[in-house]
Amino acid sequence: MKKEMKKILVTGSVGQIGSELTMELRNRYGAENVIATGRKTQPSEELKNSGPFHFINVNDINSIEEIVKKYDIDTVYHMAAILSAVGEKNPQLCWDVNMNGTINLLELGIKYEMARIIIPSSIAVWGAGVPLDNTPQESVLKPSTMYGVTKVCGELLCDYYVQRFGLDIRGLRYPGIISYETLPGGGTTDYAVAIYYEAVDKGEYTCFVKEDTRLPMMYMPDAIEGTIQLAEADFDKLIHHSDFNHAAMSFSVTDLADSIRKRIPDFKVGYEPDYRQAIADSWPNSIDDSAAQEEWGWKPKWDLDAMTDDMLKHLRERKEAGTLYR
Ligand code: SER
Repeated sequence: MKKEMKKILVTGSVGQIGSELTMELRNRYGAENVIATGRKTQPSEELKNSGPFHFINVNDINSIEEIVKKYDIDTVYHMAAILSAVGEKNPQLCWDVNMNGTINLLELGIKYEMARIIIPSSIAVWGAGVPLDNTPQESVLKPSTMYGVTKVCGELLCDYYVQRFGLDIRGLRYPGIISYETLPGGGTTDYAVAIYYEAVDKGEYTCFVKEDTRLPMMYMPDAIEGTIQLAEADFDKLIHHSDFNHAAMSFSVTDLADSIRKRIPDFKVGYEPDYRQAIADSWPNSIDDSAAQEEWGWKPKWDLDAMTDDMLKHLRERKEAGTLYR
């Protein structure tokens, strides 16, 4: 197996995490070495103009293989996925994209002797039967959503390919990710992003989960830093591969609203819980990421108040420029 990382493919590069990850990878490794891909959504001007971009369908192995061959890809960040809320509306599509996309990339990893494949997992792997606070790395994985099922299966599949074929695969169980560049698409934790946009836009927000809903969360710069840090970690020091708990903070909607209210005193929040409440209730409040700390030195930088300051600063600037929702 090749052990260098020279040509990087990012799937899902138009998505919430993929868009910022691609730009950071281009900064670090050279724009021409990072090949961004998406399914249908048009890339931003920044993404399109800063390096190669192609449309592919991760369910169609030939469409990925064309790009892998064209650019001699040796590293993949596989960010394309259907998230939890959309997955519950269309479970078959969720299975199809999340599982077939993953196995297609793993097979190409073997065929082209790739150096490294990064495939994210999620807090959605958990369901009944785990302690909700500080959920341990090794715990029962009984998700209640199709998204969670695909993430558990994905972790198992990746670990199988590590053991059986010697592929170098790494993955993190992301908490809810909060960011201002690209809106998330169809997750349960999306409320923690939407609340900032609406606070800046209208001064009020109606939340689709109850005020005491508490979930593990992370600000985007930490998510990007952690992902690249894991990708660059020494393989021989890793005991885990595809399933690292990855934590930064944990807060309820009330905590989040209070943090915003310290900066926007008359901010109002209403509550109209919908089907996503049950999904949120099935996930932990907080998770224990000591394996990530011990095996590759993970340490988050952002807490709730620092994140709120930064989110509001950026979103206010965008509102003034008339590009809040772009
Ligand atoms: N943010 C994701 C979701 O809500 C969880 O990984 O679906």
